Amino acid sequence: MSAAPRASAPPAKGRPVTLSTLAEKKALGEPIVMVTAYDYPSAEVAEAAGVDVVLVGDSAAMTVLGYESTVPVSLDEMLMLAAAVRRGLRSPLLVGDLPFASYERSDEQAVASAQRFVKEAGCDAVKLERGGRSAERARAIVEAGIPVMGHVGLTPQTATQLGGYRSQGRTAERALAVLREALELERAGCFAVVLEAIPRELTREIVARLTVPTIGIGAGPETDGQVLVFHDLLGIYGGHKPRFVKRYAELRDAMVAGVRRYCEEVRGRAYPGDEHCYEMAPDELERLRSLLAEAEEAAATEEPFTGGPSL
Ligand code: KIV
Repeated sequence: MSAAPRASAPPAKGRPVTLSTLAEKKALGEPIVMVTAYDYPSAEVAEAAGVDVVLVGDSAAMTVLGYESTVPVSLDEMLMLAAAVRRGLRSPLLVGDLPFASYERSDEQAVASAQRFVKEAGCDAVKLERGGRSAERARAIVEAGIPVMGHVGLTPQTATQLGGYRSQGRTAERALAVLREALELERAGCFAVVLEAIPRELTREIVARLTVPTIGIGAGPETDGQVLVFHDLLGIYGGHKPRFVKRYAELRDAMVAGVRRYCEEVRGRAYPGDEHCYEMAPDELERLRSLLAEAEEAAATEEPFTGGPSL
């Protein structure tokens, strides 16, 4: 943090969070709260809880689409999720995560993908991973008028190259490389940088050198903000739980228990009860019965039926 730590207030109701809001929060030492969301209900929850930034993360690949990593998720899939999130959100800044292979090939590809997040899904900004070539892509997107958030440290899209889903920057050389990537992203015009799964000592060095806000996930308490995956923090996702995740609820257990009870009640004929039924007005029921009787009589005598509808 660049100023003495202080507690942050949720965004004022209806007042949209902008890039200036985030810069102000950093200057004041007020932590920025970011969370992922992937659909309308999770966006509504983020809105109601008063978070500052919502990321439609490519973690959706695992948390909601059932892929084994973030690599397979397509731009079209991400856009559909981002558009649903947009419909549930008013105040927080909405960031769309550029998925693997949607921005690396060329500046033109990166700008076109970022533009789709803004035009088709209503995102305010996009995020991409790594420095180097990605920093060049970030610069092109910023020059096209779209704000970009960077992401360094453990970058899941290239986890195989990093030796798997493991913390990064634990040797001096690798720490220097992560720091350089963060600086490259800032120089490219990124308005914030996510630091994922790095030692807190390295976080301290990066935060001291960057002027834009840093958002940590497994990077310790000294970043300007924190981000967690919605399904991790609420205990919805049954997959691997990284060390940095704190569970604030165990919704998966509650959901399984709820659906299990529903199964039991349907099988035991306890559901639906009277309170879940619609009823017909007595005069309509009487009319229905006489219509049925007429129709059945006509069918039995095979006479052409001219009254109400035939059966
Ligand atoms: O995809 C994602 O959810 C992310 C966050 C972990 C920062 O990139």
